[in-house]
Amino acid sequence: MNSMQDILEANILIVNDSKADLMLFEQILRGAGYSAITSANPCEVFASHLKNRYDLILLDLQMQNMDGFEIMKRLRAIEKEGCLPVIVITSYPEERSLALKEGASDFISKPIEIAEVLARVHNMLKVRLLHHILLNYNTILEKEVQKKTLDLQLRAADLQEGYLETIFTMTRAAELKDEDTGAHVKRISYYSRELAKILGMDEKFIDTIFYASPMHDIGKIGIPDCILLKPCGFVADEWKIMQEHPAMGEKILGDSKSFYLKMGSEIALNHHERWDGSGYPNGIKGEDIPFCARIMNICDIYDALRSKRPYKPAFDHQKTLEIIIYGDSRTHPKHFDPLILDVFKRNHQLFCDIFDEYEA
Ligand SMILES: [Fe+2]
Ligand SMILES: [Fe+2]
Repeated sequence: MNSMQDILEANILIVNDSKADLMLFEQILRGAGYSAITSANPCEVFASHLKNRYDLILLDLQMQNMDGFEIMKRLRAIEKEGCLPVIVITSYPEERSLALKEGASDFISKPIEIAEVLARVHNMLKVRLLHHILLNYNTILEKEVQKKTLDLQLRAADLQEGYLETIFTMTRAAELKDEDTGAHVKRISYYSRELAKILGMDEKFIDTIFYASPMHDIGKIGIPDCILLKPCGFVADEWKIMQEHPAMGEKILGDSKSFYLKMGSEIALNHHERWDGSGYPNGIKGEDIPFCARIMNICDIYDALRSKRPYKPAFDHQKTLEIIIYGDSRTHPKHFDPLILDVFKRNHQLFCDIFDEYEA
C-alpha cells in the first residue's frame, strides 16, 4: 500500500499556456503538501514526460498553441497500457467525456473548486502508485519464477548426468565379462538411435534408446566365466544357463522409475526374442515383444555378424546384409519385425557407416 507520504512526493506536471493558471494550480498543490511539482508549456510536455515519467499530468484543454487532445495523442505513444496519467481541465462539459474516451484518467471542471482539485489529484495518484507497485511486484515475481526454473533445470541436468554415469558404469562392468570391447555397445547406441529416428519415434524415445540399448547384455555379469568365455559349443546345460542372462539383466536394472533404466530393463529381457516366436527366454512373438527390443535386436545381430566371435569370423557389410535379408543357418528374416527389417534394408548404408566410424 502507498502511504500519504508517497502520494505527496509523487511527480506532478502542470501543463498550461497561462502563467496565472500555472501559478494557481501550483499554489493549490503546494498548499496541500505536494512537493514534486513541475510546470511546462504545451510544447515541452512530450519530451519532459519521456524523460521524467510523471505520476500525474494536469492538462488544460483550452490552450492557444496546442490542442490538449493532440498532446494526449502523443502521450499515448509513450504510455502504451491505455490509461494516461492525465487529468484534463476544461470549461466545456462536452469535452469531459471525449477526453475520457481519448485516454484521460479524470477531469476537473472550470471554474475550479479547490476541494474538487485536491480530491481528484489525490485519488488519481493513489490509483497510479498502486498500479506501479503491482507492476513491480509482477516483475519481481517473474524474476523469481525464472530463477527457480533455472535452478530446477540445473538440478535435472545434474540428476540426468548422474543417471547416465551409473548406466555407463554398469555397462562397462558387463563388458569386462564379455569378449567385446566398448565399441560394440557404443555402436549399438548409434544404430538404435538412427533406426528409431527413421521409424518416426518421438524425441524422448530416441534419447532413451540411445542410453538404454547398451545395457542389453548387462545380465552376463551373472553368468560364470567358464561358460561365458567358452570359445565354442555349449553343452545343453551351459546353453540353459547362458539363456538366463536376459532375465538376470531385467532383475539387475529392476523396476526403476528412471525411463532409461525402465527401457534398459525391457531391452535386456527381450533382446533375444524373435518376431516368429523362436527366441528366448519367453518365446513371445510379434508385437508382444516391446518395440524398443525389436529395434535393438536387429542392431545387435548386424553388429554381431560384422564382428569376430569365437564361433565365426567377422563378415563384411555385404555378406552381413545378405544374411539378414536371406538368412543362414542361425539367422532368418522371419526373426525380425517386418517393418523394422524393411527400414533396415532401405537404410543399411547407415549401419555400415556407423560400424566404420566406431570400429574398435
Ligand atoms: Fe544377449
Ligand atoms: Fe550385444
